[in-house]
Amino acid sequence: MSRNGGSRMGRNAARGVRMSGRGMFSRRQFLKLGGAGLAGVTLLGAAGCGGDQQEGDGPVQLVFSHGPEESGVLRQQLDEFNQQREGEIQVEWREMPADSGQYFDQLRTEFQAGGGEIDVVSGDVIWPAQFGANGWVLDLSDRFTEGMRGEHLDGSVEAVTWDGRVWGVPWFTNAGLLYYRQDLLEEAGFSQPPETWDELKEMALKTAQDTNTQFGFVFQGADYEGGVVNGLEYIWTHGGDVLSEDGSEVVIDSPESVEALTTQRSMIDDGVTAEAISSYKEQESQAAFLRGDAVFMRNWPYVYGLVGTEGESSIEHEQVGIAALPVASEDIQTYSCLGGWNLFINASSQNPDAAWELIQFLSAPEQSKGRALEGSYLPTVRELYEDQEIQEEVPVTELGREAIENTRPRPVSPYYSDMSLAMGAQFNAALRGDTTPEQAVANLQEEMSGMLERADEA
Ligand code: GLC
Repeated sequence: MSRNGGSRMGRNAARGVRMSGRGMFSRRQFLKLGGAGLAGVTLLGAAGCGGDQQEGDGPVQLVFSHGPEESGVLRQQLDEFNQQREGEIQVEWREMPADSGQYFDQLRTEFQAGGGEIDVVSGDVIWPAQFGANGWVLDLSDRFTEGMRGEHLDGSVEAVTWDGRVWGVPWFTNAGLLYYRQDLLEEAGFSQPPETWDELKEMALKTAQDTNTQFGFVFQGADYEGGVVNGLEYIWTHGGDVLSEDGSEVVIDSPESVEALTTQRSMIDDGVTAEAISSYKEQESQAAFLRGDAVFMRNWPYVYGLVGTEGESSIEHEQVGIAALPVASEDIQTYSCLGGWNLFINASSQNPDAAWELIQFLSAPEQSKGRALEGSYLPTVRELYEDQEIQEEVPVTELGREAIENTRPRPVSPYYSDMSLAMGAQFNAALRGDTTPEQAVANLQEEMSGMLERADEA
């Protein structure tokens, strides 16, 4: 553990990333955390706090939507809420698809048909602009006061802010990490994780061969939101980008993006991974890694919490190392995609006050700490990064520090879901070899420029 931490620190120092002393993050790092690039905002309050409409004398019945969770910690917390509020509020968890895009489609259908029955919506970090622009969720600027916001990481608050208003409350944050099998690398004669994509390929090939492991590297290559995330990470770590800094122009058609998608495809061509990677989502990659069938894996922090759990994993924490994602060459900075989930109130909920109570419960330091300890979900509550128990029990916060400090958001736009569909399809076609990387980024340049123009006209 300390060995990994040490090697990352060395690399950080080489890149001039300032590390804090005893605490997890310095104040400046907190400010940076969550990625730069979102516009500064003024916070205007506009939300009303109407009373809940309840039929009869029974408790208020709330519906909370979220995808499946292997850790079991959400189930426990909802049960605890129901016990605490017995006779007043009872919440039922509506399990939504694990695939963020499918979850979004289901919500959109309900919202467009008049709102549906969900009261509290868990939502991906990429949704607030679209939720807000369409009026699908309540403006929480008044309820989620400036003082309360100050308790969360700036990047996480920025991510729920759009058009000067705050639409949700941060719940947990995410950053793409490079997991590796420390024991297997050592067996193959490697003492450090790779710094460049070429090194990763070489190490993955040799280690897989020497240790008779099925996959050198697994990641998320399917045509869906996670495939977009992975494609963007390849692009960013090759020095490319999607939009210009001010968001006004599409810049994806660049030699860097071409090289990025070429690297991604070469994972299949060079035998580092299997053809099937083009249909892999988080679950397939984590299953392969936890079974002991992969040397390297790109995935989110929660997978660390599943290592060593009975039934899920045949590997233990001592065998696993974590690093930041590799880069194309040493002069390029590592980036990982900002992920995470937030809590929103459906604009047509009949029970906004009870919904707000559930949100306050779930996002409180105590519950955030429980999610970190039980499920390796990264908190958005600042003080928890100084918490000794978390520092000791959730080493992913320490081992993943370089990645967590270098996140970038996906484009922020009410049209993001269209952009995502376009990127998902082109990145996946390039990975499958159905189109060339050149053609894929040229197509995206055209399609996404059209989307920006339509957004300007709207
Ligand atoms: C994780 C991230 C989310 C991302 C998704 C992609 O759930 O938190 O932001 O969109 O993975 O699969």
